[in-house]
Amino acid sequence: MEKTFVIIKPDAVQRGLTGEIMRRLEQRGLRLLAAKFFLVSGELARKHYAAHEGKIFYEGLISYITSAPVMAMVWQGPEAVAAVRQTMGATDPVKADPGTIRHDYALKISRNLTHASDSIESANTEINLWFSPSEIVEWERCDDEWLFGDN
Ligand code: PPS
Repeated sequence: MEKTFVIIKPDAVQRGLTGEIMRRLEQRGLRLLAAKFFLVSGELARKHYAAHEGKIFYEGLISYITSAPVMAMVWQGPEAVAAVRQTMGATDPVKADPGTIRHDYALKISRNLTHASDSIESANTEINLWFSPSEIVEWERCDDEWLFGDN
């Protein structure tokens, strides 16, 4: 089953939205495999956002992600990459659909609350960058059959 990487960014942590964001992912049926609450180093931030180096918002993005603690997580589920991005909503909150996290709690792209991997390939790269294999908990949940069962 697919895994994806999610960050609850400093603005969401500061605004007390950590629990609400995790609740939405959990309630959708995604399974939490790893979570880590910490202050991101400049080095990790630059590696994570390396693809955006040189863009006008790059330095601001690094300052933002390192400005306060984040909750970094791995979530698993069928089509987890697409499902999580759908739950987050469009990167720019004013373009996000009603009912998504970014629509419901944010207004600016520079304070858009979360990061979620945009492909299976980025998810694998990001999970390896942010977590060691021993931090990923592979487990079965008692309601898996009711969430993931095939007919
Ligand atoms: S782009 O322009 O296509 O590369 O942008 P995108 O892939 O959608 O976003 C890359 C990350 O940069 C953040 N972003 C911004 N931050 C601040 N200001 C502006 N204008 C801006 N545009 C994009 C965006 O939230 C993405 O970060 P993550 O953490 O992946 O959501």
